[in-house]
Amino acid sequence: MRIIGTGSALPKKVVTNAMLSEFLDTSDEWIIPRTGIRSRHVITDERVEDLGAEAARKALEQAGMQPGDIDFFICSNVATEYVTPGMSCIISAKIGLSCPCIDINCACPGFIYAMDIAETYYQAGKVHNVLIVCAEEPSRMTSWDDRSTCVLFGDGAGAAVLTEGNNIRGIELHSQPDPDKIWQTKTLVPTPFVTKEEKDVPLQMKGREVFKFAVSASTRDVQSLLKKVGIEQSQVAYYMVHQANLRIIDAIKQYLGESDEKFPTNIADHGNSSSASCPILLDECNRKGLFNKGDILVFSAFGAGLLSAVAVVEW
Ligand code: UT7
Repeated sequence: MRIIGTGSALPKKVVTNAMLSEFLDTSDEWIIPRTGIRSRHVITDERVEDLGAEAARKALEQAGMQPGDIDFFICSNVATEYVTPGMSCIISAKIGLSCPCIDINCACPGFIYAMDIAETYYQAGKVHNVLIVCAEEPSRMTSWDDRSTCVLFGDGAGAAVLTEGNNIRGIELHSQPDPDKIWQTKTLVPTPFVTKEEKDVPLQMKGREVFKFAVSASTRDVQSLLKKVGIEQSQVAYYMVHQANLRIIDAIKQYLGESDEKFPTNIADHGNSSSASCPILLDECNRKGLFNKGDILVFSAFGAGLLSAVAVVEW
């Protein structure tokens, strides 16, 4: 397939590190050197599905497509107020789609997992035009008393329209099952029969271990896929890395022996927006005119699961 439209949408409320330090034992001096984050957009009165719909409309407009042109819709989302229907159905209703749609919960690499599904359906001859929306509100998953998690995240949505083409040069998906490294639980409706213990627990994360996983998985994924598809690092124009922590991105850059210019970032203003991170970055770079036709983009993302994924895409 080929990416022909991108879009993104962010909540209006910007929370700076200084604002966090008004109610948390934290500071700009701690957050910036350890994460690179200065501020993040956080949901107030918006609904995450409305952000997803706005990002989708922008991507469709840029692609020059109407909702009726889309024949498959994939939505990536980790947490929403709805248990059912899926976020893909809710966004479909908002933007006027009536094609088949599915939801995936692959955490931060969700955009790359979605591209893989789109490409595989396309190769199977089942679809022509696919919409991907990643809509996330991780600010509603963390405890706002827990300075080690809540400072890291921001909300938002990113979208892409893919059509027929030969520009996805390769994708690799990886899983290293270890659900204790990043997790959150929410209780279901009680019944007269349930006897097991259930609890609502906000997002828990073993930060240092996730950090190490992120750097080693991303470096391995990128080198492995580039080798498989026969592309040299020198041919790569940009690495579109999941915006989790600037130190993670710097470490990946160092291990790959690459230059700063090849790693666009927006983490300073957004924090970690889970699966929305890669498509928001893609949309911002695209709308700034950063990419030239034929540029090789390498997407790499990692997160809860533990899952990671990498894609090589020709722009
Ligand atoms: O999409 C993937 C999602 N997850 C990630 O990407 C997270 C990956 N991990 C990380 O980015 C880093 O591990 C963190 C930024 C989360 C933490 O950085 P760290 O250098 O690994 O710090 P730490 O967790 O080892 O904490 C060091 C100290 C602790 O204090 P003590 O025990 O040494 O007294 C923490 O309590 O820093 C303290 N601390 C804070 N202090 C001020 C933790 N969070 C904060 C905070 N402000 N926000």
